[in-house]
Amino acid sequence: MRRIIPVSSGKGGVGKTTFAINFALTLSRVAPTVLIDLDTGTSSIRNTIDVPVGKDLYHFFRKGAALDECLTTLDGRIDPDGTYRNFAFIAAPRHAIDEITNLRDDLRWRLLHAINGLDARFIVLDLRAGLDANVVDFLPLSNSGVLVFTPHHPAATLAAADIVKSLLFRKLRIIFSEGSPFFRSLPDTSHHRMVTELLDAVEDVYEENLPNLDAFLVDLHGALGDNPYLRAIAWVLRSFGVYFVLNMFNGVQESYETSIRPFVESLRRNVSGKLTLTNLGWVVQDPRIHEANCRRTPILLQQPEERRTADPDPVRKELAALESSVLGLPAMRRERPRPVNLDELQRIDPSCTVDRQLEILERMYRDHGDRQVRENFAYIAHRALHVMKHLPPESFGLPRLYTPLEIFDQLRV
Ligand SMILES: Nc1ncnc2c1ncn2[C@@H]1O[C@H](COP(=O)(O)OP(=O)(O)O)[C@@H](O)[C@H]1O
Ligand SMILES: [Mg+2]
Repeated sequence: MRRIIPVSSGKGGVGKTTFAINFALTLSRVAPTVLIDLDTGTSSIRNTIDVPVGKDLYHFFRKGAALDECLTTLDGRIDPDGTYRNFAFIAAPRHAIDEITNLRDDLRWRLLHAINGLDARFIVLDLRAGLDANVVDFLPLSNSGVLVFTPHHPAATLAAADIVKSLLFRKLRIIFSEGSPFFRSLPDTSHHRMVTELLDAVEDVYEENLPNLDAFLVDLHGALGDNPYLRAIAWVLRSFGVYFVLNMFNGVQESYETSIRPFVESLRRNVSGKLTLTNLGWVVQDPRIHEANCRRTPILLQQPEERRTADPDPVRKELAALESSVLGLPAMRRERPRPVNLDELQRIDPSCTVDRQLEILERMYRDHGDRQVRENFAYIAHRALHVMKHLPPESFGLPRLYTPLEIFDQLRV
């Protein structure tokens, strides 16, 4: 099963590119993987991997090259054993080119189609920071892709929560837009204007009466009783998966207090307490990661260091541990909208409360707290693979990218 996995962060400097590179390298040991540099203004991937780049996105956009002609693979100098022979990347242009940095709709859709046509099992997208169409159009509608944040950059953590908010509102607006399958299925459209105006009010954080979608649901229930809008919103919230990775992890309590808790609280306050959150793991803070980047040989491409403990096969052990415990992974579900009652609306899903996140982090730490960078990536990749294997395709990443016109068909609520 093919999967496109976008990696994003609200702001730069959290280690998104570092994560995307090493994550893609790890996945490539399982199946052919392509990493695409969509942070086209800064081109950091080519500057972090020391191999000659033939063609890049410049050739795709300006010279009529096919996207698969723009793949760069590792050479024998940087990957002498061929461990990562299933890894390739598509570099952004060598220098910023406005037209490619700020893609027009038609160019972005051309790229989207070309990405869908790539022959790879996993396609990892290193997105730029921020929330414009160059980011949002590459994100799924039913999950967050991988959000990266770090205890060292609190503003970026809140910005990551804003990505989730923006995806959810975007999805609701598409579902509720006139002409959508949902709209056409409504027996009565007399409340449509009121509902969409209320939605605007919820998105507007300065509107204190309606702080989040949970309050909106309760209000809507009070006004209209059980109704298709309510069911659609409740379904969107219940089925949306938030996945995150903590970079520069600096201990359970510290990381929890300075990043996970603010992240979850921001989501709960401004979006909803009903979202399912999955911590995919963490990457320790380690100066060797930074040195490796500076030497243009990502940490996973460096010769492994001696292990501190005699451990024959940590990856296999992690797999076994995963099989015996799903560590807060969301349960398999393929729900459709169903009647919603007030009681249910007011209940907060215990699986995503702040306390549960601490518990999960503590359990994860108990199981792999002594692990080094290399195992951190193996662990995250195994958790991601576990999700891909056991949950429906739209739960994590996306099987293919959709242009806004195709999205309608995707959202038959
Ligand atoms: N886990 C880590 N430990 C130490 N330094 C890191 C780690 N992850 C990233 N860095 C360093 O942090 C800086 C930002 O990383 P980068 O991957 O470029 O972030 P982004 O893509 O989010 O802007 C870089 O200098 C990188 O070498
Ligand atoms: Mg980057």
